Amino acid sequence: MILPIYLLGTEILREETQVVEDDSPEIQQLIDDMIETMHAAHGIGIAAPQVGRSERIFIVDVSSMEEDFSEAGIEIPDQPMVFLNAEVIDEADVDSEFEEGCLSIPDIHEIVSRPKGLTLRYHDRTFTEREESFGGMLARVIQHEYDHVDGVLFIDHLSAFKRRLLKRRLQDIREGHTEADYTVFAKDVGVIEPEDTA
Ligand code: NI
Repeated sequence: MILPIYLLGTEILREETQVVEDDSPEIQQLIDDMIETMHAAHGIGIAAPQVGRSERIFIVDVSSMEEDFSEAGIEIPDQPMVFLNAEVIDEADVDSEFEEGCLSIPDIHEIVSRPKGLTLRYHDRTFTEREESFGGMLARVIQHEYDHVDGVLFIDHLSAFKRRLLKRRLQDIREGHTEADYTVFAKDVGVIEPEDTA
């Protein structure tokens, strides 16, 4: 089921998430719904708070970018990667810069600096514990989604100056004025279908 994507301004995006203790049909359904919602919105990652849920879950799927990377000889997983209860256990000392966007902050794209790589401990969707290191594009998207389960958004990484420049546009998004081509949920407005937006 495709779920509305919660916009900047909704409290859930800023709340602490809960560790997923046990596997259950509800959790598996939530994971399926998150994947379907992410794909419908043409996203490459999504976190539970973005669909109004407080579980410590995020999904990353960069398979649509394969063409951009195969030339460079970089292998990209061809299916969504599911991260439950992820914890960063190590990160690179060196940062890299790259332009980011977010389904919860439509049409805003800004350069963000983050560590070039990281090591995570997490459970996959079969609840198998894994420890894995990531670099490149995967590290970038994983860190963006990991931030979401900590209540952090990519705009928090921007300078105060940059945020001031974006202030009006961010306020519009908080009020539900977006041109997103997917269903969103705005604070004080509720669910907004794509044809209602702008
Ligand atoms: Ni995001």
